[in-house]
Amino acid sequence: MIKFARPMISDEEKLAVIKVLDSGIFVHGNYTKTFEQKFLEFTKAKIALSYANCTLALQAAHQHAVETRNIDQGSEIICPAMSHVATSHAIECSGLKPIYCDCDESGNIDASQIPNLITKKTRGISLVHFNGVPADMTSIMKIADEFGLYVVEDCAIALGSEFNGQHVGLLGDYGCFSFHPVKQMTTGEGGMLISKHFKYGGHLKLQRAFGVTKQFNERKISGHYDVSLVGSNYRMAEIPSAIGLVQLGKVDQILSIRQKNYICLHKALKNNSFYTEVTAANNNELKKRSYYCFIAMLPKQVNRNDFQIKLRNRGLETSVYYPSPIPHFTFKNSSNVFHHAEQIAKHSIAIPVGPHLEANEINQIIDILLQEQRLPKSLFGNN
Ligand SMILES: Cc1ncc(COP(=O)(O)O)c(C=O)c1O
Repeated sequence: MIKFARPMISDEEKLAVIKVLDSGIFVHGNYTKTFEQKFLEFTKAKIALSYANCTLALQAAHQHAVETRNIDQGSEIICPAMSHVATSHAIECSGLKPIYCDCDESGNIDASQIPNLITKKTRGISLVHFNGVPADMTSIMKIADEFGLYVVEDCAIALGSEFNGQHVGLLGDYGCFSFHPVKQMTTGEGGMLISKHFKYGGHLKLQRAFGVTKQFNERKISGHYDVSLVGSNYRMAEIPSAIGLVQLGKVDQILSIRQKNYICLHKALKNNSFYTEVTAANNNELKKRSYYCFIAMLPKQVNRNDFQIKLRNRGLETSVYYPSPIPHFTFKNSSNVFHHAEQIAKHSIAIPVGPHLEANEINQIIDILLQEQRLPKSLFGNN
């Protein structure tokens, strides 16, 4: 079976984990500090803080905005209908209210609809860089500046993406990355928050570790510290940090394999009307995208779920990004229409491009896809 994704762990990561285990230092150690420093250098951020996962990093960002901008509970944050539910949950877990905006055909938030959603209660915008393609940050930042809104960029699957020469996450006020096992790089579970605002670092550091003023290794007398604000325990531990450090060292190589695989699929399917690419390869000169998976829209006449089973039976595992507009999940049960998000959720499949693919597997994927496009000839011609 060609898997949709698999974490790429070598002896180097295993050795790094053993070193941590042997050291007896599992939190507050040098691996975490070095990982953050290297991530900061990679993205050219002013601060880089590690978290237990991306969802908590997103939550920390919203909480930071609430605490430092005097934002009332229940204030409205505009966010994409088409994203992982974490983008929305992080808003609600911070006592704020997500207001959903549809995407355009590319899967990214439709910035032209944002002004229609702004009310007196709007305080922020949280967007996702869908499938590693940067959202329209020029329009989004213009709206944010005009209305005084803070901006959180969900970069969970956008490591390596740039907008106008800057790494994503640095256009808005906060950028949050995921190191979940199927992401561009992994720490097992993990996340990172970056920002262009150096001054955010102090408050965020306190907030992610109980509000405790002195970290373990900064204490003159063991066990003595003060607590200056309400916080939680959002930190990344040493074992994931050690894995992350090794993975980050290989990230350029990992990203270029993903790009190479993606381009093979793009070339093979670009004139194929059965598989319409959702987020086309570099479609705008301001945007340098990262390659996470290849998302293709199937013809509406094809039952997508049955088609995925068909592909699986042929030995190809696919996925869906994402299976429903967030407000249509049971926890919201909204009847509002999100046309593009609904189309992507219902008709698209996500095809693997990760570095786990063995030599020639990308060609096998293409063969399977081309063989399985059973077209009623009257509808689709000879593709
Ligand atoms: C866009 C997006 N945001 C956030 C997350 C959550 O990341 P994590 O699992 O690291 O909390 C995901 C996970 O897939 C995601 O796709």
